[in-house]
Amino acid sequence: MRLEGKTAVITGSAHGIGRATAERFAREGAAVVVADINQELGQRVADRIRKDGGRAAFVETDISDHAQVDAMVEFACSQFGRIDILHNNAYTLGAGRVGELSTDDWQRTIDVCLTGYWYSTKVALGVMVPNGGGVIINTASVAALAADYTLAAYSAAKAGVINLTRVTAIDYARKGIRCNAICPGPIWTHSEKAFQEVPDEMSKALLHAVPMGRLGRPEEVANLALFLASDESSFVTGSHCLIDGGLFAQTGMPSLSGAGAEW
Ligand SMILES: NC(=O)c1ccc[n+]([C@@H]2O[C@H](COP(=O)([O-])OP(=O)(O)OC[C@H]3O[C@@H](n4cnc5c(N)ncnc54)[C@H](O)[C@@H]3O)[C@@H](O)[C@H]2O)c1
Repeated sequence: MRLEGKTAVITGSAHGIGRATAERFAREGAAVVVADINQELGQRVADRIRKDGGRAAFVETDISDHAQVDAMVEFACSQFGRIDILHNNAYTLGAGRVGELSTDDWQRTIDVCLTGYWYSTKVALGVMVPNGGGVIINTASVAALAADYTLAAYSAAKAGVINLTRVTAIDYARKGIRCNAICPGPIWTHSEKAFQEVPDEMSKALLHAVPMGRLGRPEEVANLALFLASDESSFVTGSHCLIDGGLFAQTGMPSLSGAGAEW
C-alpha cells in the first residue's frame, strides 16, 4: 500500500474528484479526513470508507471560514495524530461576464478557491513542518492557464493557485514539504444517466473539444493525486500537471486540411 501510516486531509471530498481521491487514498492505507461543507454527503463518504475497512472521519468545514479551517486541522490531529497530506480541492464558482459579475460572486469564489487554499496550507504547515515534512496537492484547473467565458473569478483564483503552489514549494522545499497542483480538464462527476440528460448540442460540443473524445473520470484524477501524494513523486515539487485528455494540447484552430481527431 502506497500511503500506509499516512493521514490525508482532503477538502471538498463529499463529492466528485475529492470523494474519489478520499476513497483511493483510503484503499492505499491512509487515514482520511473528509472535510466538506456538505454534512450529509461528507458523512456518507467517511461511513462508506470505514464500511469497506478503511480509516476515515468527516469534519464539516467551510474552507472560506478561517476558524473552521483551524478546527479541521485540530480535528485531523486529534483523530489521527498527524497530517502528512493536504489536498486542497473544494471549490465554488460564481459566473458572469466580467462587467456583470456581482461583487459577492467574485469575493466568494476568491475566498473559497484561493484564500481558502492558502489558509488551509498555512495551518497544515504548522503541523507538517514540526513533524519533518508532508505533501500538499492543490486542485487548480485548465482554467488557471487559459480563459473560459464568464469565469473571471474562478480563472483568476485558479491561476493564483498555480503560483501559490510554486511559492509553497520553494519556501518549504528544505523543510521536507512538496507542493504540486493538478489541472483537470472536463471531468464528469455525475452518473452516466445524468450525462444522457445533458442537451445533445452541449454534450457533442464537450466531447468534440477533447481530443480523446470523452470526459475524464474522478478516479483518473485520484490516480494522479495518489502519485503526487506518494513517495513515488519524491523529486516533484512546484509543478502543475494537466489531466485533460489532450484538451490543452490544441491551439483551438480548426483543421485546415480537414483532418480531425475523429479519423
Ligand atoms: N469537474 C471538472 O470538470 C473540473 C475541471 C477542472 C477543475 N476542477 C476542480 O476540481 C476540484 C473538484 O471539483 P469537482 O468537479 O469534483 O466538484 P464537485 O462539485 O463534485 O465537488 C466539490 C465539493 O466541494 C464542496 N465544497 C464547496 N464549497 C466548499 C467550501 N466552501 N468548503 C468546503 N467544501 C466545499 C462541495 O460540497 C462538494 O462536495 C475543484 O477544485 C474544481 O475547481 C474540476
